[in-house]
Amino acid sequence: MQEWKIQLDKAYASLKEQVDFEPKVGIVLGSGLGGFAQSIEVVKTLPYSQIEGMPRSTVEGHVGQFVFGYIGEVPVVAMQGRLHMYEGYTAQEVVMPIRLMAKTGAKYLVVTNAAGGISYKEIGTLMLITDHISSMVASPLIGTNYEDMGVRFPDMTQAYSRQLADIAKSVAEENGIDLKQGVYMQFYGPQFETPAEIRMARNMGADAVGMSTTVEVIAARHIGMQVLGISCITNPAAGLSQGTLSHVDVQHAADIAGEKLGLLIRETIIRLPTV
Ligand code: HPA
Repeated sequence: MQEWKIQLDKAYASLKEQVDFEPKVGIVLGSGLGGFAQSIEVVKTLPYSQIEGMPRSTVEGHVGQFVFGYIGEVPVVAMQGRLHMYEGYTAQEVVMPIRLMAKTGAKYLVVTNAAGGISYKEIGTLMLITDHISSMVASPLIGTNYEDMGVRFPDMTQAYSRQLADIAKSVAEENGIDLKQGVYMQFYGPQFETPAEIRMARNMGADAVGMSTTVEVIAARHIGMQVLGISCITNPAAGLSQGTLSHVDVQHAADIAGEKLGLLIRETIIRLPTV
């Protein structure tokens, strides 16, 4: 058996020993967006470090724990802090928490990220992810396919659920939130892109760029979750403004949009169809 699968099975057993809770929705909170966890009526928090076999998040602004609880009546689990390829994790390691959330029962995945804007440059813009480009990074599905987790060649024509997108759009409209939409492209990082890379991304059809999300969404679709993705534009992408890029600025910008994004996610989760 492949090493990551051994670790995943170990982590699942370790999690089940510590938490007796079946979430319907898994939520990934991106850079600077971890504050959303405060709107969860918490039942249990579980630091990744207490789960045997689980990699740890090392990035500033990422706490590194699962938060189990309720949003309204809906049982959820939120990842406060995600894992990134640039931390040195393989794609299979990066998606381990996604697979864990699915194995504990989550049928939906709500994934957020901080992103550099190509089509949208205003800081704090929220962008519904309609599709993605993952071809710059390794697939988490490379290697042995375990049929209990999904098929060898999963379809990606609707990586992001139109049904969930429609719910989010209605919520945005009713609450006066200006929700843009577009294609997200993932780079490895950790360095921000060059202006030439951003021109390439734009020519390939990307509206926003970042260092996460697409590998997670691939794993989520593989295992059968329905996905809603939202980017928070924290800066114009490289070369599209006079300034330079920094992680501190990204976190600060994400803080500004946090409340709006929180409302959007909360209301959308409450309206998700029963599964
Ligand atoms: N590039 C990549 N990742 C990012 C950016 C960016 O400009 N902003 C926030 N995350």
